[in-house]
Amino acid sequence: MSRSVTARGGHTPYEWGMVAVAQMSSSPSHLTKVVVHSAGGHDHLKLETAPIPAPGPGQVSIDVRAIGVNYADTIVRMGLYASAKEYVGWPITPGFEVSGTVAALGPGVTDLAVGAEVFAVTRFGGYSSRVVVDRSQVFRRPACASFEQAAAIPAVYMTAWYALFELAHPRPGAKVLVHSAAGGVGGALVQMAKIAGCEVVGVVGTSQKIATAKAAGADHVIDKSTQSLWREARRLAPDGYDVILDANGVATLRDSYRHLRRAGKLVVYGFHSMMPKSGGRPNWPKLALDYVRTPRFNPLDMTNDSHSVLAFNLSYLFDRADLLAEGMAQITAWLDAGKLAPPPVVTYPLADVARAHADIESGKTVGKLVLIP
Ligand SMILES: NC(=O)c1ccc[n+]([C@@H]2O[C@H](COP(=O)([O-])OP(=O)(O)OC[C@H]3O[C@@H](n4cnc5c(N)ncnc54)[C@H](OP(=O)(O)O)[C@@H]3O)[C@@H](O)[C@H]2O)c1
Repeated sequence: MSRSVTARGGHTPYEWGMVAVAQMSSSPSHLTKVVVHSAGGHDHLKLETAPIPAPGPGQVSIDVRAIGVNYADTIVRMGLYASAKEYVGWPITPGFEVSGTVAALGPGVTDLAVGAEVFAVTRFGGYSSRVVVDRSQVFRRPACASFEQAAAIPAVYMTAWYALFELAHPRPGAKVLVHSAAGGVGGALVQMAKIAGCEVVGVVGTSQKIATAKAAGADHVIDKSTQSLWREARRLAPDGYDVILDANGVATLRDSYRHLRRAGKLVVYGFHSMMPKSGGRPNWPKLALDYVRTPRFNPLDMTNDSHSVLAFNLSYLFDRADLLAEGMAQITAWLDAGKLAPPPVVTYPLADVARAHADIESGKTVGKLVLIP
């Protein structure tokens, strides 16, 4: 059974405020999920019901209380997300992270109890009232995070942890520039770079986001809407940056590389400047042009410049149980110790998924958007 969900555009989540939570009714035998049958706009997000699957060996079934929305989910919907095509194809249920309680355990899972409060990463499929995932993707919910906050943490904080501590390894005192510093991953990067003892410059696209980037711990915030990004970046770090974290893609990649100091590292983890801020569908000529214009870094130049370019997509790493265990143990320890805080969240009923997508695509949101099934 399926029905369409529509976007009511023109409002940011904070204008809407904390949206009242509407519980979708799902019988014990059925789940409710968002399904995308083919690439498209917001009208391609369909709400459907399906029988609840039993967990297989080594798997955990989670009764989902909240679902983190990621910018990448919108690219999945548009049919442009490579790992979604590789692992799932069509139809697909988007969603990389959830929180909830353990509903059932598959054979061989003995270290979790039914009813345990958890959060988890999902390689797609998270937009659902019930998910089944491998045990290695499930973690104890930190006491400091509500279910809504917990759903906004695992994929996003793992992305930030991997970028900073597996790839960049900033030293204390390092100058770190974080683009989109008031967003989901950006806010986590700012917080973690401060834990690492770095001096952090956050870049935001609108003045309303300055306070969020500062609250995450940024020492300086550059507001691209009122300031010249790279002039201000040079003023704050005349010798260049030790680390720059860039998910803009073509709009800033070349300049990010140029503003590294010797031994500096550019971590590339997204390309959102290729995407539309409204309408929900790609602008194909712009996309093609941006693809052609995306810099290709030359190893000869990189060697002479002593600059590194590092890149990754976490969705390809979810079966790396060693990385997940290490990263999530560190993240949970920091949360428990109060060194790391959950992000600010705004909730939407699952039925309003189209509005959540329109809002995150608008580029106006701060913190994390969370769906409540
Ligand atoms: N590689 C990975 O494993 C991985 C994992 C998670 C996320 N990501 C990527 O990280 C980025 C952030 O993801 P998120 O979920 O945390 O989203 P988010 O930062 O909460 O929201 C996206 C932000 O990107 C900027 N933006 C959006 N559309 C834009 C456009 N067309 N042109 C320029 N800037 C635009 C806006 O911030 P400003 O205007 O303030 O810059 C916007 O608020 C995305 O590119 C996502 O794909 C990658």
